[in-house]
Amino acid sequence: MFITGIGKTKFGVSESPLHEMAYEAAAQALHDADMTPKDLQAVYVSNFVGGPDARQLHLNAVLVSLLQCEGIPAFRTEAACAAGGSAVFQAIRSPYDNILVVGAEKMTTTSAKQNSMHIGFAGDRLLDQKEGLIFPASYALIAQQHMMTYGTTLDDLAAVSLKNHVNSQRNPLAHFAHKKVTLEDIRKSPIVCSPLRLFDCSPISDGAAAVVLTKKKKGNSISIAASAMATDSISLVQRKNLTSFQATKRASENAYKEAGVQAKDLDVMEVHDCFTIAELVAMEDLGVCAPGESGKWVREGKTALNGELPINPDGGLKADGHPIGATGIAQLVELAAQLRGEAGKRQVKNAETGLAQNVGGVGGTAAVHILKKG
Ligand code: COA
Repeated sequence: MFITGIGKTKFGVSESPLHEMAYEAAAQALHDADMTPKDLQAVYVSNFVGGPDARQLHLNAVLVSLLQCEGIPAFRTEAACAAGGSAVFQAIRSPYDNILVVGAEKMTTTSAKQNSMHIGFAGDRLLDQKEGLIFPASYALIAQQHMMTYGTTLDDLAAVSLKNHVNSQRNPLAHFAHKKVTLEDIRKSPIVCSPLRLFDCSPISDGAAAVVLTKKKKGNSISIAASAMATDSISLVQRKNLTSFQATKRASENAYKEAGVQAKDLDVMEVHDCFTIAELVAMEDLGVCAPGESGKWVREGKTALNGELPINPDGGLKADGHPIGATGIAQLVELAAQLRGEAGKRQVKNAETGLAQNVGGVGGTAAVHILKKG
């Protein structure tokens, strides 16, 4: 399967309603693919909180109506923050040749308290949330465990945040594209849940992203060399180890096998940094470095735009933003732009192979895709 068209709206605080953002990204991707809605055989829509936030759970039908391609099958897929990766995973395995996959979310019109509750729908409600483990608290626990086990420091977390904010300044569509952030800003930002500060968290964002998938290669199509998904227990209480996500490990092992590559062959990566600690854990689970080495890698600049393996050149969830249903699709949009050599000021030199890791909940689900140029 190939990614033949890409589209993305500005991430951040948008005045557009959910369906308009979804339509905007879809129209861009179709235009980019040089296709019309009439060329499509199926539509997949990735969306997580459309019900509570936008009172719309049938976004697949809404989008088909807006595109005026009624008649074809359309699906809404949901796997918490991995909804985007999961939609692409399912579309690739469908019988259809020309597919539009759109991810969209409208979150900024909802109060912080309500958002926290809605995001909590992705976690374990029976064991973890009874103990107060809402999302920032779960990742704070993981950060504490990583610090105790490997000596990871607050400076390691801050280095992830700074790198991603610096990258986002080269991405005009990023949530924090115009926010200049210094190490001092990060260090002085308020504690959300110790040891995580405001700048360790991804923001609440609106936005949409879309890809057109085709079985036939066209023009500058990018090849999907591997597509894998895996799961783990939803509850942290049932995990043997908090410093690693088994779902990421399982999915990436399968993806590396399918694509015939290893972590050392990658030129660029998009990882699910919903909190800074998640980027460090992802690097270790994806085999970029040994457990406990990720903080050093980031501090040494190895994952910066001009480093050995640039990670999250668009700013990642931290600074590009995290409109949940759109996130996994936006990662693929960024990788495709990088491999096409069209990423502008944030272009990674000689990028030919890229990997995207999209996580649902606190590691309950992971989707991993590997893309290759040509
Ligand atoms: N990083 C940096 N700055 C942020 C930010 C973030 N994550 N979130 C908000 N801000 C900034 C805003 O831009 C605003 O700045 P301004 O005063 O210069 O305009 C300021 O902080 C206050 O914004 P506000 O929207 O009132 O923040 P909040 O306190 O309601 O929310 C969090 C902050 C961290 C609680 C919220 O972003 C959050 O819940 N993030 C995690 C989301 C999540 O769990 N996603 C799922 C992960 S799997």
